[in-house]
Amino acid sequence: MNILILNGSPRPNGNTAAMAEYFAEEAKKQGHKVSLIQIGNKDIRGCKNCDACRKTLDGSCVQQDDMQEVFPLMRECEMLVIASPIYYYSMTGQMHCAIERIYAFERLPKIKKAALLLSAGGGGFTSAIQTYKDAIIGHMGAKDMGIVKSTGNGARSEAVRKEIQAIFGKF
Ligand SMILES: Cc1cc2nc3c(=O)[nH]c(=O)nc-3n(C[C@H](O)[C@H](O)[C@H](O)COP(=O)(O)O)c2cc1C
Repeated sequence: MNILILNGSPRPNGNTAAMAEYFAEEAKKQGHKVSLIQIGNKDIRGCKNCDACRKTLDGSCVQQDDMQEVFPLMRECEMLVIASPIYYYSMTGQMHCAIERIYAFERLPKIKKAALLLSAGGGGFTSAIQTYKDAIIGHMGAKDMGIVKSTGNGARSEAVRKEIQAIFGKF
């Protein structure tokens, strides 16, 4: 399966990166094709609602920002993994912007499965989980393969790694 992992953290060696990289390693071991992109430190803007994309809905967007490297991966992905720190009780701004920009497809054309990896200082996962459930599972029709949460330094813990491994048991 073609898997795209988006990491919404601006920190390349942070907690979310640890979870996303572990997910990527396990996916590769299972024979999946994996692309992991850290979007949290990229220039990713919100949708302008110019509606230029509505003619084709193939991921063509007039905004020439770093989403231009993400769109081709979104077009081909069969599984989308959203990995994000919790910032003020939600996903990071960059992750929200990237999800908004899926408007250029309306729905990802090949998506079948999805998963959510979240890391927080202490909690506040509710809104991020709701966004994932509404936008990725509900609106796009992907099958939820698992939601893994970590707090504090738990992102590298054996317990979190086991939860990530369990996702592959459901394929
Ligand atoms: C701007 C900002 C807002 C944050 N808001 C929350 C929050 O609402 N709840 C929480 O538990 N942690 C919050 N945190 C802590 C991060 O979620 C936590 O440190 C996370 O593991 C960072 O992930 P990273 O290492 O991948 O960047 C916040 C951190 C920042 C920088």
